[in-house]
Amino acid sequence: MAPHGLRTLVVLALAFMTVVWATDHSPLQDFCVADMNGQVMVNGFACKDSKSVQASDFYFSGMHIRRNTSNALGSSVTPAFVFQIPGINTLGISLARLDFAPWGVIPPHTHPRATEILTVLEGQLEVGFVTSNPENRHISKVLKKGDVFVFPVNLVHYQRNVGNTHAVALVALSSQNPGVIPIGNAVFGSNPDISTDILARAFQVSEDVISNIQLKF
Ligand SMILES: *[C@@H]1O[C@H](CO)[C@@H](O)[C@H](O)[C@H]1NC(C)=O
Repeated sequence: MAPHGLRTLVVLALAFMTVVWATDHSPLQDFCVADMNGQVMVNGFACKDSKSVQASDFYFSGMHIRRNTSNALGSSVTPAFVFQIPGINTLGISLARLDFAPWGVIPPHTHPRATEILTVLEGQLEVGFVTSNPENRHISKVLKKGDVFVFPVNLVHYQRNVGNTHAVALVALSSQNPGVIPIGNAVFGSNPDISTDILARAFQVSEDVISNIQLKF
């Protein structure tokens, strides 16, 4: 290839190369334990002085404890995010335990910053996610103990216990702070409310129906 042809190719390749952060940024040092009381505002948390870092900064306990699921949804989430483990800051990873009463539900929600991978430890779960417009394809599966399922970043997903016994799952997430947007809360439980007439038009139902749903949130 002629030298200028090669140069053109390289320039074109560079022009089309874009850096995409699918998850949290990579660390630039061994660790950056979150200084929760720091005054510096950064994306994530500023680092504690590494000389003052202790094992407890990288530690969380109690993931074996069965949680109380006596609530309207029949489920409970125990997070181990950067807020619980400051040593997770900048590492792009976190964990949570999910407990389900019989037939309990974790309602449709998204994580704006993380893909989620779930392992069933006890019981059976029906799980699913929906792809984006225009397909809106619903991909779902019933999982038993030991089964693993992935929920791609940002997509709306849910879990339900499909059994008469307590169910438990452990999930890993590709962010120190995955965030959660429950669809119901975002649409019907915002503060202040989205106008009832907007939601009535959006969902093609009467304002009474919308008001009733808003009362639940
Ligand atoms: C579980 O939570 C419910 C509702 O908050 C409460 O009434 C009940 O006492 C709790 N049960 C236990 C065992 O802590």
